[in-house]
Amino acid sequence: MSLVGIAAKRIVTCDPARATKADPLGVVEDAAVLYDEHSISWVGPRAAADGKVPIVDVGDRVVTPGLVDAHTHAAWVGSRHDEYVMKVAGADYRAIAAAGGGILSTYRAVAEASEDEIAEALSARLRRMASLGVTTCEVKSGYGLEPDGERKQLRAIKRARETAGLPHVVATFLALHALPSSAVASRDHYVLRVATSLVPEIASAGLADFVDAYVDHNAFGVDEARLVCDGARRAGLGVRLHVGQFADVGGAQLAAEVGARSADHLENVGAAGIAALASAGVAATLLPIASFTLGQAPPPVAALRAAGVPLVVASDANPGTAPSESLPLAMALAVRMYGLTPAEAILGATRLAAVSLGLAGGGVPRPRGALVPGARADVAVWDLPHENAILQPWGVAKTHFVLRDGVRIHG
Ligand code: NIG
Ligand code: FE
Repeated sequence: MSLVGIAAKRIVTCDPARATKADPLGVVEDAAVLYDEHSISWVGPRAAADGKVPIVDVGDRVVTPGLVDAHTHAAWVGSRHDEYVMKVAGADYRAIAAAGGGILSTYRAVAEASEDEIAEALSARLRRMASLGVTTCEVKSGYGLEPDGERKQLRAIKRARETAGLPHVVATFLALHALPSSAVASRDHYVLRVATSLVPEIASAGLADFVDAYVDHNAFGVDEARLVCDGARRAGLGVRLHVGQFADVGGAQLAAEVGARSADHLENVGAAGIAALASAGVAATLLPIASFTLGQAPPPVAALRAAGVPLVVASDANPGTAPSESLPLAMALAVRMYGLTPAEAILGATRLAAVSLGLAGGGVPRPRGALVPGARADVAVWDLPHENAILQPWGVAKTHFVLRDGVRIHG
């Protein structure tokens, strides 16, 4: 593929080198971006673009980096609509889980499904996410619970990762999510086996980039999660953690201690946890669709911002707490319910999300999440006139076309 280009009224670069206080997104007006399948070669005013390069003019539309969804459980099958009805009638998520619903309900659906069925459900979901502007998606396992089930889910994720025409997939082994009934009488043994046997096996099979654990009241404790974090570090995998969804049990401090890339949820985190995240440079991944579904109060966004913790926004796509596939919806709720500025929500779903996945920052070659020379050509062209219009709760896809690595994956 030789060099081609897109010209538009507004190109939102998310380039830190272009960002100013008045323009945190580094917008170029009457702009063009030139790229091939390898990378972006040039971004700037259209009038200054190389006249020999064929350029598609998308008119008054706004162009942004492809969106990066840094927290999903998208490899699920089945439906939990019955639990949603119970929740809106007042039932408690943790009570539903304790009665064998919740994560264990999706565990049963995943156990009954073949690897093919899971891979097909995930691929279809990723195609729909691409139509919403998503070009990179983190996907967690965590509904297998038993070693065979986790391997099956991770192999299905790997297949989606290797399928052309989909968003780029980052795989996370959600090592501690719920205790399978087979392990109720041997909890310590289960945790130890996951940490010392399954984590290294999955790392050496190339099935995951990250390890995650659900650190919370009624889930797993800090000491249990630390074992799998240590296993991840020994195996060369990164760490991201579910922290403080229901209670502050010290998960943020653990995330800081183990050098996690991200601490996710954080509806319940105190001052000590926030200070720990800030001093260790751990991002806060905010999941407003989950707190909307559960009817929860927002995380302490103002305190996280004041401490300088990078704010990432993600969908948490899963059949229980976030039955949605829409990162733009999460961004809309982050602005409306959590008080993020539109620019914070856009950076949190592009460049900062990519940094949290190890796909940008720190000299990563061909980064994702920003329209800068040398970055991969992951681009969303919106049927919208301005980036702030992306933050409205459309409920439908508003993209014109979407490129991943310079190739159309939607439109
Ligand atoms: O991020 N809280 C733990 N994990 C998911 C929910 C999983 C489920 O309910 O199936 C979350 O909200
Ligand atoms: Fe989650």
